[in-house]
Amino acid sequence: MTGTIETQLEYSAGFGNEHHSEAVPGALPVGRNSPQRAPLGLYAEQHSATAFTEPRGHNRRSWVYRIRPSAAHPPFRPYAAGLLRSAPVPAGVADPNRLRWSAPALPETPTDFVDGLYTVGANGNVLQRSGIAIHWYLATKSMEDRYFVDADGELLLVPQLGGLLLITEYGRVRVEPGEIAVIGRGVRFRVVLLGARARGYVCENYGQAFTLPELGPIGANGLANPRDFQYPVAAFEDREETVQVVQKFGGGLWAADYDHSPLDVVAWHGNHAAYKYDTARFNVMGTVSFDHPDPSIYTVLTSPTDTPGQAGADFVIFAPRWLVGEDTFRPPWYHRNVMSEFMGLVKGVYDAKAEGFEPGGASLHNMWSAHGPDAETFEKASAQDLVPQKVEDTLAFMFETRWPLVTTEFARSAAHLQPGYDDVWRGIRRTFTGQG
Ligand SMILES: [Fe+2]
Repeated sequence: MTGTIETQLEYSAGFGNEHHSEAVPGALPVGRNSPQRAPLGLYAEQHSATAFTEPRGHNRRSWVYRIRPSAAHPPFRPYAAGLLRSAPVPAGVADPNRLRWSAPALPETPTDFVDGLYTVGANGNVLQRSGIAIHWYLATKSMEDRYFVDADGELLLVPQLGGLLLITEYGRVRVEPGEIAVIGRGVRFRVVLLGARARGYVCENYGQAFTLPELGPIGANGLANPRDFQYPVAAFEDREETVQVVQKFGGGLWAADYDHSPLDVVAWHGNHAAYKYDTARFNVMGTVSFDHPDPSIYTVLTSPTDTPGQAGADFVIFAPRWLVGEDTFRPPWYHRNVMSEFMGLVKGVYDAKAEGFEPGGASLHNMWSAHGPDAETFEKASAQDLVPQKVEDTLAFMFETRWPLVTTEFARSAAHLQPGYDDVWRGIRRTFTGQG
């Protein structure tokens, strides 16, 4: 790998497109998927992320042309999962309390992306392919001779500290804080840190693959535009030495020693891979009259379920934008929500919390947990002069889900769980006078 590859990666644009790419000219068959002999002595293999028979609009699969078929591997053996958990969470608690965590510390011993996964909570059931898990990743070491593959779900990564080079079966994807990446279910990859440390958030989606939300009356354009999703171009490792492949399967980790790199795809075509998106390209929409819109207007990606409108996971961002609402309480209003809300902060300050919600930290307002602006924010926003105001240098986000999140024992007892989070609402004054 060279600096050039890290900094000048090529991408193929378009969400869910039928991408095609070859790292060596002639490696991709033309006009058929599985010729009697695949070009250049490669093996053809289909990677199906949906059932063969799912409707076209949902169907995700790619054809890969690789040095060895994926079937050529030794047995997997159990591998210690550290702080990585799946639903149903062992010793988990469905907690109605509002929880908030400061940013977790980076490990003191060298730790890579896989060993540094730390689960906050999960819902659904990993074996039923429904629900999500939410993790932090905390890494201080690149994966050099190790690879990871998640059979349980796709991985939405939200970097907060440090950039990542994701070297995947489908090619290389570079992401920095402010960008996000999605690694498709069953895609093998390794994570190279672009700095000394890396921290971020992961939504592991057991359910239907993330897709773009419907736009309804917004029209054909807006929010996250399909052309801004970038897929890697084919790039392969031709490596014949012992490497370790760690697989997450059925909630546990398993490892096997391969005698070659599993990232040996020389060419591919299809719509299942990995992709990135720069949140700076999000076309933020909001009110130009009054009232804070429902935050669904900020949805980047959604994982639908069989109940229309109830997402297994929505990925929502609170990006820089203008606030112009007249006679409006401009921060998010107080509310209770049947959907559960996990929030994180990439940078800056979130407009409903004056302090305490810090970059790298998180809050969880589980199903029906009452929340909204803290006392200080309420006082300020109720009295402010409503001139047009630009919210700048901030990026908060939410993983919103239809099922309550069940938190892990260690997230609930962690030293960075903030005691007294309820106090941010304690100072709210009574102002009712009974008179206008
Ligand atoms: Fe909320």
